[in-house]
Amino acid sequence: MGVVRLYDDGRVELLADEVASSVEQHARFGGVVPEVASRAHLEAMIPTARRALAASGLGLEDVHSVAVTAGPGLAGALLVGLASAKAYAAVLGKPLYGVNHLAGHVAADTVQHGPLPSPCLALLVSGGHTQLLLVEDLATKITEIGSTIDDAAGEAYDKVARVLNLPYPGGPPIDRLAKQGNPEAIAFPRGLTGPRDAKYDFSFSGLKTAVARWVEERERAGEPIPLADVAASFQEAVADVLTAKAVRAATELGVGTLVISGGVAANSRLSGLAGERCAEAGIELRVPRPRLCTDNGAMIAALGAHLVAADVAPSELDIAADPALP
Ligand code: KG4
Ligand code: ZN
Repeated sequence: MGVVRLYDDGRVELLADEVASSVEQHARFGGVVPEVASRAHLEAMIPTARRALAASGLGLEDVHSVAVTAGPGLAGALLVGLASAKAYAAVLGKPLYGVNHLAGHVAADTVQHGPLPSPCLALLVSGGHTQLLLVEDLATKITEIGSTIDDAAGEAYDKVARVLNLPYPGGPPIDRLAKQGNPEAIAFPRGLTGPRDAKYDFSFSGLKTAVARWVEERERAGEPIPLADVAASFQEAVADVLTAKAVRAATELGVGTLVISGGVAANSRLSGLAGERCAEAGIELRVPRPRLCTDNGAMIAALGAHLVAADVAPSELDIAADPALP
């Protein structure tokens, strides 16, 4: 749950950012269990909202409007959020904005780096999505120009972590381990980079399978697995493809700013390589701090503030959750 203040000039200031996480409950199962997630949302919702409001130094009477994720995401978790937000909006008599979680990830950057220039390109890399978005207006005009045709980048991290017996979620432990490894030790495949492949689409399922096969072969031969080298080489393949395609898209579309957001944007090699390649291409790079990259409520509050600033009509109070919201 986040609380933001919107200024007349469009600036959005972060007042509170309280995150309740059920990741430890999911870690036991090696991934998100929908039932566990809904229950955890239900238990955390009111205490987290109270904590956020207290941390902001404001009271309920100061709330101008309420924003909530309408989708995409797990139905049960979305329903808990929507029901709570509707109750707050109805009781306070304030407008409700049902927003897109993915656009929220892009909006996260604005609380740290200020309003986005128009147009800009967003590389959204999370556990469920990997997309290149042309953002002409955060509140009203976002166009998808590429996406993964199979696994999301974060999903590949989580699956490779399982192969390497690392905990869930896999991004942080692989990121740490990779720092001690050689990124050129193993030449893992770069999906969809052939001359006839869709220019801005991604594929990570072949990479994940290649890592699993490489490890299995060594295990069968009774050889030790150089974990740090596998992690570094896998991470390099992911960062290479993501940054190459994003920089190419920005260059070909004549867009001067690239924003990287979503949980995988917290990856040190991804932001490092993106920094090098954007500098070479003369593109401004914006990556929010890790805390704003992974799921948080502040990004949803920020997107809500941008909708208010853009005079977008609020949602009806009967707005439905849409797990597959495009
Ligand atoms: O955006 P997010 O918090 O939740 C979704 O909306 O999916 O993204 C979660 C994903 C997980 O797959 C996790 O492994 C990955 O982000 N992640 C990372 C890092 N931190 C989190 N991946 C690579 N490197 C990291 N440092
Ligand atoms: Zn997310």
